Amino acid sequence: MKKKILVTGGTGFIGSHTVVELLEANYEVVIIDDLSNSNENVIENIKKICGKKPDFEKFNLTENDKLKAFFKKHTNIDAIIHFAAYKAVGESVNFPLKYYKNNLFSLVNLLAFMEQGCAPALVFSSSCTVYGQPLSLPVTEQAPIQIANSPYGNTKQISEEIINETVAANAGKIKCVALRYFNPIGAHHSALIGELPLGIPNNLVPYITQSAAGIRGAVNVFGNDYNTPDGTAIRDYIHVVDLAKAHIVAVERMLNNQTKSDFEVFNIGTGKGTSVLEIINTFEKATQQKLNYTIAPRRAGDIEQVWADTTLANNELGWKAELNIYDMLLSAWNWEKTLMNI
Ligand code: WQD
Repeated sequence: MKKKILVTGGTGFIGSHTVVELLEANYEVVIIDDLSNSNENVIENIKKICGKKPDFEKFNLTENDKLKAFFKKHTNIDAIIHFAAYKAVGESVNFPLKYYKNNLFSLVNLLAFMEQGCAPALVFSSSCTVYGQPLSLPVTEQAPIQIANSPYGNTKQISEEIINETVAANAGKIKCVALRYFNPIGAHHSALIGELPLGIPNNLVPYITQSAAGIRGAVNVFGNDYNTPDGTAIRDYIHVVDLAKAHIVAVERMLNNQTKSDFEVFNIGTGKGTSVLEIINTFEKATQQKLNYTIAPRRAGDIEQVWADTTLANNELGWKAELNIYDMLLSAWNWEKTLMNI
């Protein structure tokens, strides 16, 4: 009997790549997504990639009646991978209540049904944002959680606390693996799914690919006066496919009862830091596309540098990122060319 996985936010950037990996690993998949930050044709493209189609239900998880009806219909969910959340740092500063309501109410509704036995296992989409600017690098899972510098980051911190306390109150009934993502970039090698930013991209790599495609002007490098080798900020960029694969490993860890506790947390990064200028230079090398960029002032809220200590994920979870920055940026460019029909 195939194991059945609910993927909330499964038509989104990371969600769609994870659904492909789940289907290729012979899981049955059902997606809940409100399509507020994605579109339904992703499902057709998932089918083109792996020859199988996930079930799909369109609603927002804060609509509790719809979620109740969903679990009445889908009574045999073995695990939930919860991606569905708003995730734009800047937008969250301008609309905090929109973020607290959507991200926290969705999670609470989901956990309440898990308490009722609708599913025993949860993979939670968390973020390195919870660390803020780490006091030492590489950052480990034991690093102190610092005051969030955005409502978005705060929803991730509060979500982890809500899960931890709910799991503790339901010992042996619910378990969770939280994955703290670093910076997911790139796209599936088929170039049939990828990041679909709405409007002007906030994130670096989709802005770069749109600039190279002539949709945007020069790339603004937000600050070159950081205390880093080339003065620009450093992040741990990870290929979205490597990140997707980590979710399958996390699901199997719980389904095979291999967890060491009912709430585990893992850093999912490459363990390597890359600067903005290194990203720009590698993009030009990988794609043979010239990029125009200008040095601009630092962006409010940005931290200087972060990269993951991946020892726990490598040794305990048995997962390691395999793709490099060149692969990530070339795949991002190939996806942009699909979007532009070029
Ligand atoms: C990366 C670097 C920018 C755009 C955010 C969220 C994080 C996660 C990933 C959800 C920074 C610089 C950017 C540009 C630039 N999202 N930059 N010019 O801010 O590290 O992380 O997205 O989980 O939670 O916080 O990613 O891609 O926006 O920025 O110079 O046009 O690129 O200053 O140093 P970030 P990013």
